[in-house]
Amino acid sequence: MERVTGTMISAEEIRAAVERLGKQISEDYAGSGKEIVVVGILKGAFVFLADLVRQISCPMILDFMQVSSYYSGTVSTGNVRIKKDLDFDIAGRDVLIVEDIIDSGITMQCLKRELYSRNPRSIKVVAAFDKPSRRKVDFTADYIGIEVPDEFIVGYGLDFDGKYRNLPDVCVLEVDGGDK
Ligand code: IMP
Ligand code: MG
Repeated sequence: MERVTGTMISAEEIRAAVERLGKQISEDYAGSGKEIVVVGILKGAFVFLADLVRQISCPMILDFMQVSSYYSGTVSTGNVRIKKDLDFDIAGRDVLIVEDIIDSGITMQCLKRELYSRNPRSIKVVAAFDKPSRRKVDFTADYIGIEVPDEFIVGYGLDFDGKYRNLPDVCVLEVDGGDK
């Protein structure tokens, strides 16, 4: 069994980080011409995405993708599968991928490679959280909300086996048997 322990990041801290990211992104894309294409990565990014887009002032189109590199549980498999693809054509567009957390970096590295093959003008990645100590490939997000230590976290959209996405704070999850 798993259990949620103490709060690692409060809803207030997250709100401040999201505001800062929104401001920065709005500045960076100001006057870029066409609407940017904001791509939310399902399911984990849904809470972050909803908060972030309301802090971005430039015109945008919203789309979603679902990719998976994780099976049920907390162990990475190192392969990305597209479960739901974009509805929009991104050729010539500025794409902003919105992800919940960067861990090994494998998901984002593979996804960026896939999306670059569709000839966008640019691709940037914004992640609510980043665990740089867990990196298995060389990947850096363009915008990072909050850096976190090597703990498995849930809440603010992040899950364990589909659970805990609704928690407003980010909390540490402990799994009995040490299966992290
Ligand atoms: P990566 O390919 O290892 O970077 O995997 C990133 C994905 O793993 C994220 O989109 C999350 O779905 C999941 N993930 C990584 N760390 C955590 C965590 O601490 N809590 C919940 N999900 C996580
Ligand atoms: Mg995810």
